[in-house]
Amino acid sequence: MNNFTFVNPVKIIFGKNTIKHISGEIPANSKVLVTYGGGSIKRNGVYDQVAEALKGYEWYEFSGIEPNPHYETCIKAAALIKEKKVDYVLAVGGGSVIDATKFIVAAACFEDGDPWRLLSEKPKVTAKKAVPFGTVLTLPATASEMNSGAVITKASTQEKLAFGSPLVFPKFSILDPTVTFSLPPTQISNGVADAFVHVVEQYLTYPANALLQDFMAEAVLKTLIIEGTKALENPNDYDVRANIMWACTCALNGWIAVGVPQDWATHMIGHELTAFYGIDHAKTLAVVLPGVMTILKDQKAEKILRLGKEVFGIQSDSASELIDSTIKATEEFFHKLNIKTRLSDYGIGDEAIEKVVNRMKERGWKLGEKENITFDVVRKILELRK
Ligand code: NZQ
Ligand code: ZN
Repeated sequence: MNNFTFVNPVKIIFGKNTIKHISGEIPANSKVLVTYGGGSIKRNGVYDQVAEALKGYEWYEFSGIEPNPHYETCIKAAALIKEKKVDYVLAVGGGSVIDATKFIVAAACFEDGDPWRLLSEKPKVTAKKAVPFGTVLTLPATASEMNSGAVITKASTQEKLAFGSPLVFPKFSILDPTVTFSLPPTQISNGVADAFVHVVEQYLTYPANALLQDFMAEAVLKTLIIEGTKALENPNDYDVRANIMWACTCALNGWIAVGVPQDWATHMIGHELTAFYGIDHAKTLAVVLPGVMTILKDQKAEKILRLGKEVFGIQSDSASELIDSTIKATEEFFHKLNIKTRLSDYGIGDEAIEKVVNRMKERGWKLGEKENITFDVVRKILELRK
């Protein structure tokens, strides 16, 4: 196992009827800004529960945070924080609202020019201060509710970049699985697929003799596989929703990442597909991952074999057959979630491949756990996914 230091300070409040606990978490006399998205929280009763819990606080709201949140939108919320002298923010939504809020709370305190520098000039430029915030999670997927990362899109340049800072860990996150009953099936699937790939990015590399992390990763994957399709078939099952919600959080809250190598190539390639073509984040991952597994199958052989045996229960005397069956099972899992896995399924033609490859070339990125996925390798991966 590799050396590591680990901290995760996020307080999780999990279960039915827990939104009311907001009032015990936000210091009295705080001026609060509630951030949210396009209005799902007004239709499913979450907004009313939040408003009830905030009685007695002076609070404002900022709505209209879009999926794959835009820098241009976030900047307006940061200005509102300064104007109203807000001292606590409450993000109510999915990964997009929570990610946006992480950027907003850092941007509101940023004094070194344009806050986009937090993304475009990292790690040289970092946040030095941020307004504290909590979250009410409405979409299990990203684990943004229990990590310190965020992904923001600059619409004007079609760039989607990540940043992170210990200052943008939420102070608390409320996870009430009942609020996920209103999710449309496509968002249930997206969430399960995204969390599945988060685990894969931290697990499907090369062995580091980190047995506990391997077992934990496999447990999260199995939970997502078992419960993911159940949530689509039986959307009103509370326990299924609860298992999915906690599995998605555990997929990217840092526990399985400690002491092991990490990949993240699928995500970095997927982010470009979202930036250029607006495809849902999880759907880009389902397109790219089978290509990454196929092109990198020698490098990843030992862990692909383990994934096949331990998670999908595949048996074969031939290692190469087992590897191929595991890649197939992974793609079939996305299909069971009704997620398509080819670029052409999303109306994307060959020109997209060069567009993404050129981005990688410009940035000089070398992706993957061995930093050997250069732009040429990205081309090979995407050629397989046409
Ligand atoms: O905007 P509203 O009206 O709220 O509707 C949202 C949105 O349209 C809707 N929704 C959310 N909760 C709902 C609901 N609809 C009905 N009932 C509910 N309970 O779902 C739609 C999608 O929401 P979004 O927040 O965009 O989805 P998700 O949670 O999948 O977040 C995706 C974003 O997170 C980033 C992605 O890149 C993407 O921008 N990621 C963040 C990560 C992190 N911080 O660690 C890691 C991930 O890899 C990912 O990159
Ligand atoms: Zn993701």
